[in-house]
Amino acid sequence: MPRAAQISPSILSADFARLGEEIALVSDTADWVHVDVMDAHFVPNLTLGLPVVEAIQRVSPVPLDCHLMIENPERWAPGYAEIGSRNVTVHAEACTDPRAVARDIRAAGALAGLAIKPGTPLEQYLDVLPDFDTLLVMSVEPGFGGQSFIADVLAKVRTARTLVDTGHLSLLVEIDGGINADTIEQAAEAGVDVFVAGSAVYGADDPAKAIAALRRQAASAMEG
Ligand code: DX5
Ligand code: ZN
Repeated sequence: MPRAAQISPSILSADFARLGEEIALVSDTADWVHVDVMDAHFVPNLTLGLPVVEAIQRVSPVPLDCHLMIENPERWAPGYAEIGSRNVTVHAEACTDPRAVARDIRAAGALAGLAIKPGTPLEQYLDVLPDFDTLLVMSVEPGFGGQSFIADVLAKVRTARTLVDTGHLSLLVEIDGGINADTIEQAAEAGVDVFVAGSAVYGADDPAKAIAALRRQAASAMEG
């Protein structure tokens, strides 16, 4: 079955004082809305937490894709699923028992995602990936928007794509960091399904048009 390019705009680059309106701008074109939760411990930056994400969930017509860049995800991740997020992703580097976290996220009604930083080998987590629905390959160091794409991580995307295409894994491959008009095609060719884009969407004059353009580029690159 051909892959469909899905775009998940990151509201990290949106106006935090107008999150409802910023999400409304992309509601006809975005597949998911990516929400970056940072705790100032796992990453140096601090963004928002469960009460704010719950408020966003109440007004968002687009399913939420929560990316938890936090320590102790065991404690917090299920809550993000309980409020109705579509996908809840935790960092492999922050989990003591990734399988248990995946089980709790799924039990609370969301897809379970595993994120790996640019320097984290995929091989280390191959045995737990059957318990996850999404694999988030970070293509920048987590913590901030607007950084440059690290192309080396595409080797991990290719490995994951092959495992999915040969039936050894069943998950969506997501990429996050530095995705824009210059980088999305190489990510699509490597095998990404879901493309997170922050500054390339919310830094554009027309975020909805930017999403449509990114999706077209990704789709044509996938066709090869
Ligand atoms: C970074 C976040 C990303 C960020 C991406 O730690 O996980 O989701 O918003 O921003 P851009 O697309 O600008 O690199
Ligand atoms: Zn993110």
